[in-house]
Amino acid sequence: FFRTEIPEGLHRLPGPKPLPLIGNVLEVGNKPYLSLTAMSKRYGDVFQIQIGMRPVVVLSGSETVRQALIKQGDEFAGRPDLYSFRFINDGKSLAFSTDQAGVWRARRKLAYSALRSFSSLGGTTPEYSCVLEEHICKEGEYLIKQLNTVMKADGSFDPFRHIVVSVANVICGMCFGRRYDHNDQELLSLVNLSDEFGQVVGSGNPADFIPVLQFLPSTTMKKFMDINARFNKFVQKIVSEHYTTYDKDNIRDITDSLIDHCEDRKLDENSNVQMSDEKIVGIVNDLFGAGFDTISTALSWSVMYLVAYPEIEERLYQELKENVGLDRTPLLCDRPNLPFLEAFILEIFRHSSFLPFTIPHCTSKDTSLNGYFIPKDTCVFINQWQINHDPELWKDPSSFNPDRFLSTDGTELNKLEGEKVMVFGLGKRRCIGEVIARNEVFLFLAIIVQKLHFKTLPGEPLDMTPEYGLTMKHKRCHLRATMRSRK
Ligand code: HEM
Repeated sequence: FFRTEIPEGLHRLPGPKPLPLIGNVLEVGNKPYLSLTAMSKRYGDVFQIQIGMRPVVVLSGSETVRQALIKQGDEFAGRPDLYSFRFINDGKSLAFSTDQAGVWRARRKLAYSALRSFSSLGGTTPEYSCVLEEHICKEGEYLIKQLNTVMKADGSFDPFRHIVVSVANVICGMCFGRRYDHNDQELLSLVNLSDEFGQVVGSGNPADFIPVLQFLPSTTMKKFMDINARFNKFVQKIVSEHYTTYDKDNIRDITDSLIDHCEDRKLDENSNVQMSDEKIVGIVNDLFGAGFDTISTALSWSVMYLVAYPEIEERLYQELKENVGLDRTPLLCDRPNLPFLEAFILEIFRHSSFLPFTIPHCTSKDTSLNGYFIPKDTCVFINQWQINHDPELWKDPSSFNPDRFLSTDGTELNKLEGEKVMVFGLGKRRCIGEVIARNEVFLFLAIIVQKLHFKTLPGEPLDMTPEYGLTMKHKRCHLRATMRSRK
């Protein structure tokens, strides 16, 4: 890479000097979102570090990231071949694998249309506008009951432990047409122990870049492999059951619709994208995985912020009481009438930046950005945390202030300001679950705020320090909640 000729008129990438063999691993440290943000102040929006022997380009700054991911989208849409990615979905993941552009595009389109059609289907009764809303409302009400029961029995609860089951049930409903009990051990052990997943696939894990580390014993890596193996087995079992009971005239869920696509393709002589059935039906594995971890993390952080800022919790409750009332469950159509809740969610996305980097990207050909030469197959990190805390974009970025997203009289959401927040990526690889995610976070939170008031346990201060990973989590903790009365 260093010997590469730089084409005339372009510059060599700036960046810190690497040490032999380990590169800049020590400077990157265990909070890359902070260290790489600090480096961007010194070296600019486009700079290069080296992790082990491998060069990595780090992009910061809203304009630069937009230029790369939108205007030069095709050149930055690849995924690097990283060691940990080979274990996800048996190396056949839509989000993490190095599929050729044509295959990835076809799979992404299929995933997107399956998600869209199965979230917007009509609900079973007219009170729900769509099946997504029905699943969330029912799971939300069930969650409140569950927390109430646990409070009565134990006096406290671990918010993530319960939220993750409710969220997993919504995506299970769409993907597999079924839900699980809050005490189902198989689901619990799968969704509650997924921290190592995020820790291993977070941008900058040294084992992905320094091959010798792959041969050293590592408990985290062992757990990561174990989670992936159990996850694949879990989905595989449900998929096999679907194959056995598949009926072309009764497509029940996303798994059925993907099986149906395979069957149709066998009859279509003009089909030209070479893809195995496994790669098609395997899409459901990505949708299920991406669909529960991200949203549970967002909701669990939201509860932490409600506890940390009781005056904001009270304002949210008053807004709900005035605009929805306390006699019915909130619905998606309430979104325009709850601007403070919308602003609160945007501020959680921005302030926590719990997805600090997108999944790593990779250049598909030699290219240039801001006058710097970037060769083909270079791994690229996109620093979303930096954009969400950039003092050029945000006044007082470190303070938690939902009002920054409201009009000056506080009655309307400032949509333009909201679009500056970056948590779903941008361009060709942008998250395909964004609409579902925004709806789901909104509706679960509206239900939670309407029914519960949260507090810390006496003598146990709130610890909001994030633990680094693909999705950053807060430390697991116990909280108290009281039911709001209907007055
Ligand atoms: C990719 C964020 C929820 C499905 C991504 C990426 C981000 C992201 C940052 C990577 C973009 C990139 O590499 O440039 C989030 C957040 C969520 C969320 C913050 C919730 C608050 C969901 C849900 C689903 C989903 C609910 C599906 C049910 C996917 C898939 C990809 C993806 C399949 C891979 C796209 C590709 O590689 O082409 N998401 N996501 N996500 N997301 Fe989400």
